Amino acid sequence: MAAFFTRFLALAASLAVSSSATTIAEINGPKFLSPLKDQAVSNVSGIITAKGPDGLWLRSIYPDRDERTSESLYVFGRAFGANLTVGDSIVVRGQVAEYRNNKDYLYLTQLSRPVLEKKVSSGTKVQPLVIGKDTRDPPTEQYSSLDGGDVFAVPNNVSLISVANPELQPKTYGLDFWESLSGELVTVQKPTALTKANRFGDTWVAGNWKVSGRNDRDGLTITDKDANPEAIIIGTPLDGTKNPTSTRMGDSVEEITGIVSYAFGFYRILPTTAIKITDSQKQELPKPTKLESKGRCSGITIGAYNVENLAPNSSHHGAVAEHIIKYLRSPDIIFVQEVQDDNGPTNDAIVSANLTLTTLTAAIKSAGGPAYTFTDIVPVDDQDGGQPGGNIRVAYLYKPELIRLYKPNPGGSLDANEVLNGPTLKYNPGRIDPANKAWTASRKPLAAQWEVISKKSSASKADTFFTVNVHFGSKGGSSSLHGDARPPVNGGVADRLAQAQITANFIKNILAKDKDARIITAGDFNEFAFVEPLEQYAQISGLKDLDAVAKIDKLERYTYLFDMNAQQLDHMFVSDSVAKSGEAKYEHIHLNTWPELASQVSDHDPSVARLDVCA
Ligand SMILES: *[C@@H]1O[C@H](CO)[C@@H](O)[C@H](O)[C@H]1NC(C)=O
Ligand SMILES: *[C@@H]1O[C@H](CO)[C@@H](O)[C@H](O)[C@H]1NC(C)=O
Ligand SMILES: *[C@@H]1O[C@H](CO)[C@@H](O)[C@H](O)[C@H]1NC(C)=O
Ligand SMILES: *[C@@H]1O[C@H](CO)[C@@H](O)[C@H](O)[C@H]1NC(C)=O
Ligand SMILES: *[C@@H]1O[C@H](CO)[C@@H](O)[C@H](O)[C@H]1NC(C)=O
Repeated sequence: MAAFFTRFLALAASLAVSSSATTIAEINGPKFLSPLKDQAVSNVSGIITAKGPDGLWLRSIYPDRDERTSESLYVFGRAFGANLTVGDSIVVRGQVAEYRNNKDYLYLTQLSRPVLEKKVSSGTKVQPLVIGKDTRDPPTEQYSSLDGGDVFAVPNNVSLISVANPELQPKTYGLDFWESLSGELVTVQKPTALTKANRFGDTWVAGNWKVSGRNDRDGLTITDKDANPEAIIIGTPLDGTKNPTSTRMGDSVEEITGIVSYAFGFYRILPTTAIKITDSQKQELPKPTKLESKGRCSGITIGAYNVENLAPNSSHHGAVAEHIIKYLRSPDIIFVQEVQDDNGPTNDAIVSANLTLTTLTAAIKSAGGPAYTFTDIVPVDDQDGGQPGGNIRVAYLYKPELIRLYKPNPGGSLDANEVLNGPTLKYNPGRIDPANKAWTASRKPLAAQWEVISKKSSASKADTFFTVNVHFGSKGGSSSLHGDARPPVNGGVADRLAQAQITANFIKNILAKDKDARIITAGDFNEFAFVEPLEQYAQISGLKDLDAVAKIDKLERYTYLFDMNAQQLDHMFVSDSVAKSGEAKYEHIHLNTWPELASQVSDHDPSVARLDVCA
């Protein structure tokens, strides 16, 4: 911090601040909202540090010693800057305003209706503040003092920053840190892209400051109570150039200088010009899994893949087939999610996915893979959410020469599966409690009982194992981690909690009849392992998180990129007998989180496990 203040104080020492002047620090104040909101201010002095299409940024020449108060300010007005340029020292009056264009966002403090009182001088050289050098390092774990220590805590949205307006604690909370630099011209040295650029070229980065959660690919992974507030998004360049859209997680980026601002729900740096990738990740795709099937119950392989709105005419059948054959090494059974009906998003009464699934299994076969068979249960039309008309559902692909349904007896769309003595299932496969309102506009889990076909002896019930394929409700409706609601709204969390409880209780019923039952549940849970729905899921069901069982490094537990974070939505949970077998291996294959946006096949990574399901 020392350098930060010395630079200003040297300047300030020669100038006395009169009571009839308002400083930029006074306008910003030590909280999120300006103490001078809606007031007219005059005699505001500053040096222009940057210009944008709708205004310019001023840095104070009368800084205070308070690190909470930003020394820079956005002056909003398209015409105002017409005759002004970077390096001009000006005196301005106007009205302090708090602006946001969406009620879920934070307010940006600005000076509106500016009038130039005086141009004092021009040609002052403007130095950006180097983040982590002229400023402290951004905090690495917590976002806001209003989050109660956990940005994903339930209940969420218990307070609003715009109402509570807490005092900034830039040392501890990420939002407070970025707010304390609002309007400032900053430099990010040695930036690394943390996730792939979005279609506008917006790119999350961290500079050469301390970070937590760095994974092997140089992204940042969310862990319990650490959601990476040290990341900052690089937004639209001020000079009208465009950021590349091909940036991938872990790419090195040229030093970035720009203005700290807030828009579209996030603090962001608006770079003076487009960012440049200096060193792109070499290896585009991960290595294939090391897990190969043993071809018998002591080591069958289980794949899990959300294939993102797969319809019969989807262009990604071939790529999914290649992923399954080459990178997942053709697992013996594959839990797939987001399989659409036989005419995809066409919104009519068709619900069968036979054509979709036949198209996929044919693509696998024709690419040299095994001849998979599939099973699914059709949903009731338009009742399971997802893309309208698509009727997405979960399904199993399996190798019929190795695995078969144990006494198949498929249930109907609304038949609730039950655990019978044995244990066996009333419907095999069958959906779990499909009429329960917890599943409104969501996929119903599909429970099945299987036997591994043994070459030696005929299979008996003792050789069976159970599976549950899930695709819980989506996080749609979530508010931004940088948004007004604290803790942020975790969209659909109440539904997922109810869904987790229903599914877990079904599994508990199997284990009540046979504590050694071999059970594998997998799929897109749309939630993190350390958030309430999955904590309860594990606790009620008694299942073990396979990531933990297989001792996967916490930072490598990711299957999805969202905003600044690598995160895990796709999980596998297994019963004790499977967990304890000594053959509980698991890998997440980063086929879709690593490539650039335009090259990803699905938005989720697939995973593959090898498990012992013998008696
Ligand atoms: C404006 O502020 C400067 C610096 O504090 C001061 O010297 C000057 O008197 C003020 N001018 C007016 C008109 O208040
Ligand atoms: C900019 O300068 C031109 C030419 O002197 C003048 O006509 C115009 O009004 C000025 N614009 C502003 C916003 O001061
Ligand atoms: C597949 O068909 C649907 C209509 O059923 C259409 O909207 C979509 O664009 C088609 N997709 C491809 C890849 O051809
Ligand atoms: C889909 O396949 C299943 C199993 O072969 C069959 O029972 C069902 O009738 C098929 N549905 C349609 C619409 O062809
Ligand atoms: C959070 O709660 C407030 C009411 O306190 C409500 O106005 C707002 O819409 C909620 N935010 C979100 C994102 O749901």
